[in-house]
Amino acid sequence: MKTLQEIHKIREEKRKELELRVNTKADTREKHILVCHGTGCTSSKSPEILENFRRILKEKNITNVRVIKTGCFGLCAKGPIVIIRPEDTFYANCTPDDCEEIIQSHIVEGKIVDRLLAKDIDGSKVNSLDELNFYKKQKRIALKNCGVINPEDIDEYLAFDGYLALEKVLKDMSQDEVIDVIKKSGLRGRGGAGFPTGQKWELTKMAEGKTKYVVCNADEGDPRSFYG
Ligand code: FES
Repeated sequence: MKTLQEIHKIREEKRKELELRVNTKADTREKHILVCHGTGCTSSKSPEILENFRRILKEKNITNVRVIKTGCFGLCAKGPIVIIRPEDTFYANCTPDDCEEIIQSHIVEGKIVDRLLAKDIDGSKVNSLDELNFYKKQKRIALKNCGVINPEDIDEYLAFDGYLALEKVLKDMSQDEVIDVIKKSGLRGRGGAGFPTGQKWELTKMAEGKTKYVVCNADEGDPRSFYG
């Protein structure tokens, strides 16, 4: 990838291909089985679940279903989590032995595997992630694509607007405008002192010299941390 045009093309094509991940009414015969590969689910055998799904689909010669690894859905106690899209069916506490039934019942016969549906805090079963009270109270911003895309596939990241902010900065904004936006955002470092990022960038810009170094020492709040 060398040009913005190439990135735009990938973004557009891949986004169409992945529409069923975010649109339950997507016009497609394809299905995606999303298997959580966050730390919690991985330690409860989600890699084995993913392998089993792929093996069974191959054995049954089912070609319209893809199995995708995702990041953490944020509800690790229900892991390993498996979600089938576009319908957004939410299976919880899955084991490698459940794969055969999910493929046969859900994929081949179109019947939800009732016993694997996630349960809400009051014990009632839910069909999809959004129906859980735990998620109803959340508005994910930075993590909104976690559990939706494969974090190891850069094209999937691009399809869901990855690097869009960087593109805007490089094409349309001056250095001062960027610093101003970051200052207004309230973004802070996470090294302990919580030093404001916008201020750090501003001080770095003001420092004399062509090459600049940002030194993060033990006291992030100390302006002497910045050297031009
Ligand atoms: S690791 Fe799977 S939901 Fe968190």
